[in-house]
Amino acid sequence: MAKFDLKEKTLVIMKPDALQRNLLGEIIGRFERKGLKIVGMKMVKLSDVLLDKHYAHHKDKPFFVTLKRFMQSAPVVMMVLEGIEAVKVVRLIVGPTSGREADAGSIRGDLAISFQTNIVHASDSISTAKQEVKRFFKPSEIFDYKKMDFEFVYGEEERV
Ligand code: CMP
Repeated sequence: MAKFDLKEKTLVIMKPDALQRNLLGEIIGRFERKGLKIVGMKMVKLSDVLLDKHYAHHKDKPFFVTLKRFMQSAPVVMMVLEGIEAVKVVRLIVGPTSGREADAGSIRGDLAISFQTNIVHASDSISTAKQEVKRFFKPSEIFDYKKMDFEFVYGEEERV
């Protein structure tokens, strides 16, 4: 059995503030430079039904209504990223929820100063990532292709 799951997937949503503040290229570039593989990407206006599902665990929180209004204020751009320990790696690059507490060097630490308008959403565990990828992407929207830098992004023992 392979030691590493090269195909671990996670969901990233670039929120309306990322789009409005012209940060999409900056954010995508950070994930690309890390070595993560983009296997799905699309722009959508999130529906009530999808947001109610996605934020079901926040439904009783005082910020739920404003969070939904914010998430529907403009389209979002969603990506499925792939790589060894992709969920953990992406969470590290993104930083904690509040932009005010995120370390410099992380996306939120460098680009956000808010709790709510915090630029990106990233799946918080492998099981959540599986649900979230399925919620937002059809199987036909996820691509399996050979990436030319693969042998330089990973060491030999990680590629088997
Ligand atoms: P996200 O990672 O998408 O998960 C839930 C979202 O709710 C979070 O990012 C923020 O956008 C928002 N959120 C979480 N906590 C608060 C809060 N205390 N006040 C306002 N918005 C919040």
